Amino acid sequence: MSPTFIFSILVFQLLFASQPCHRILTSAADGRWQLLQKSIGVSAMHMQLLRNDRVVMFDRTDFGKSNLSLPNGKCLSNPTNTALPVDCTAHSVEYNVLTNEFRALTVQTDVWCSSGAIMPDGNLVQTGGFNNGTRRVRVFSPCSTCDWQEIPNGLAAKRWYATNHILPDGRQIIVGGRRQFNYEFIPKTVAANTFNLPFLSETNDRGVENNLYPFVFLNVDGNLFIFANNRAILLDYVNNKVVKTYPTIPGGDPRSYPSTGSAVLLPLKNLKAPAIQAEVLVCGGAPKGSYLQALKGNFIGALNTCARMTITDPNPQWVMETMPMARVMSDMILLPNGKVLIINGAGSGSAGWELGRDPVLSPVMYLPDHEIGSRFETQTPTTIPRMYHSAVVLLRDGRVLVGGSNPHAFYNFTGVLFPTELSLEAFSPVYMDAEFNDLRPTIVAPKSMSGIQIRKKLSVQVVITGKVDPNLVSVTMVAPSFTTHSFSMNQRVLDLGNNNVTALGNSTYNIEYTTPRSYNLAPAGFYLLFVVHQDIPSQGIWVKLR
Ligand SMILES: *[C@@H]1O[C@H](CO)[C@@H](O)[C@H](O)[C@H]1NC(C)=O
Ligand SMILES: *[C@@H]1O[C@H](CO)[C@@H](O)[C@H](O)[C@H]1NC(C)=O
Ligand SMILES: *[C@@H]1O[C@H](CO)[C@@H](O)[C@H](O)[C@H]1NC(C)=O
Ligand SMILES: *[C@@H]1O[C@H](CO)[C@@H](O)[C@H](O)[C@H]1NC(C)=O
Ligand SMILES: *[C@@H]1O[C@H](CO)[C@@H](O)[C@H](O)[C@H]1NC(C)=O
Repeated sequence: MSPTFIFSILVFQLLFASQPCHRILTSAADGRWQLLQKSIGVSAMHMQLLRNDRVVMFDRTDFGKSNLSLPNGKCLSNPTNTALPVDCTAHSVEYNVLTNEFRALTVQTDVWCSSGAIMPDGNLVQTGGFNNGTRRVRVFSPCSTCDWQEIPNGLAAKRWYATNHILPDGRQIIVGGRRQFNYEFIPKTVAANTFNLPFLSETNDRGVENNLYPFVFLNVDGNLFIFANNRAILLDYVNNKVVKTYPTIPGGDPRSYPSTGSAVLLPLKNLKAPAIQAEVLVCGGAPKGSYLQALKGNFIGALNTCARMTITDPNPQWVMETMPMARVMSDMILLPNGKVLIINGAGSGSAGWELGRDPVLSPVMYLPDHEIGSRFETQTPTTIPRMYHSAVVLLRDGRVLVGGSNPHAFYNFTGVLFPTELSLEAFSPVYMDAEFNDLRPTIVAPKSMSGIQIRKKLSVQVVITGKVDPNLVSVTMVAPSFTTHSFSMNQRVLDLGNNNVTALGNSTYNIEYTTPRSYNLAPAGFYLLFVVHQDIPSQGIWVKLR
């Protein structure tokens, strides 16, 4: 070590000794909205961010015409639909975040209410849907000229409203779907490839369901936490064995489609502890009976509660909290600083065609580490209702991309309560405000990383122009999730903390961190890596864990 280097560390440590505490991230109305596109031609019912900073979006193919033509004058024939025997419009687009441009993509089969996940190689592998799409597997590789590739009969069972998750061994599991009380894997390892899951029939309210798009999370022990309706299990999917049954959420109201609430696995932290804890947060939904009442024109107020549980606890219990407002069909998005954004949705009714009312325009920030009772902060409202079939994803620059909303069986722009939305907005959380620029880290090296391994010490260099508190510097990893129907599949944030922060001069710092110790914590694949200082995240860089 050179003498100047040691000297800079000493000076730096002296500076640290007199840090004021942590600036508070609140103001009267938090966050800003930006209209990115008035129309991308397709309603963004499903969204996935890819490692080239493009977002793939799609709705369904039996909607009638969209507002975007297929490329090169292409058309698909649709003999089963007499109203539209030939469809020359696109039902999928790729949105380029960096240039704010989009291009039409071609899905050959019906992707309506399907599911997906990014495989470890970075390809989006997407499954199921309706009619001719229900057993399809579709692959989208991230490249500027790529289009969908489809695999007929790629699924063993028909899957509509299923949930997918990436596993520690790099496979993808697909759980449930309408009238499918089972799961399967991609790639297939055994010929039959369907494994019974009675929990899904036990949680299937007759005539309503309330168990679709189950909330699935990979627990730190490698088992899957599966929530449907109002309760959850821990599944050892290798041995097809339920290893734990969790209590019902107090009150017993359903939280799954069509009583659509949302859920997240809270950021995993203290990753060097011998026993790592995992917590799940479920928010909103619709009281029992809401769907059937909404069909009769009676729109019952949504649930205003969240339920939080440490799923790794030997005696786990749900702890209830109250949101500032009731919400159904809201999305929950984990931010790089570990906070949870609750966004979109309605104040009454249920999921399903025309069944939502009272759009909730204000997002709410949930602060998991604050005292219970002071965890919710209402954010600046948008002006565009985002009802049934809306979606959101976190972008690499820290903004949240918001799109979709189409509660109609067609594209209807007039004569309806909530016109089909083709616009894209971005919500910039308060951490993006210029007043925090002095705290904000800028990653200067590396620009990206491929082939990083688990259990390794690595470092990242950042510039921070203001005073640095090394105790409030953290490296976080965010998995790019697949969002549809108010749930982000495969959503995962790991807070790696830091091993040490050393000054390199010129406001540049080296931050050493250790990658997660197991694939149960972080399955191989692409992640966004952020450096967070005093709750202010840098822009992310793409890293690939191998
Ligand atoms: C979609 O196309 C229809 C018919 O051409 C038009 O009336 C409508 O304004 C368009 N909507 C948007 C949001 O582009
Ligand atoms: C699947 O159905 C859609 C209509 O939903 C149609 O446009 C498309 O051509 C069909 N594709 C195949 C491969 O049959
Ligand atoms: C919605 O669009 C469809 C297809 O264009 C049309 O048949 C239907 O009448 C529209 N609904 C309303 C309420 O305008
Ligand atoms: C701190 O980081 C440096 C890299 O700048 C590394 O060489 C050193 O081993 C780290 N020290 C500790 C205590 O982790
Ligand atoms: C700091 O910045 C100045 C001016 O840009 C440059 O001359 C100097 O070499 C830099 N020092 C270090 C240690 O990077």
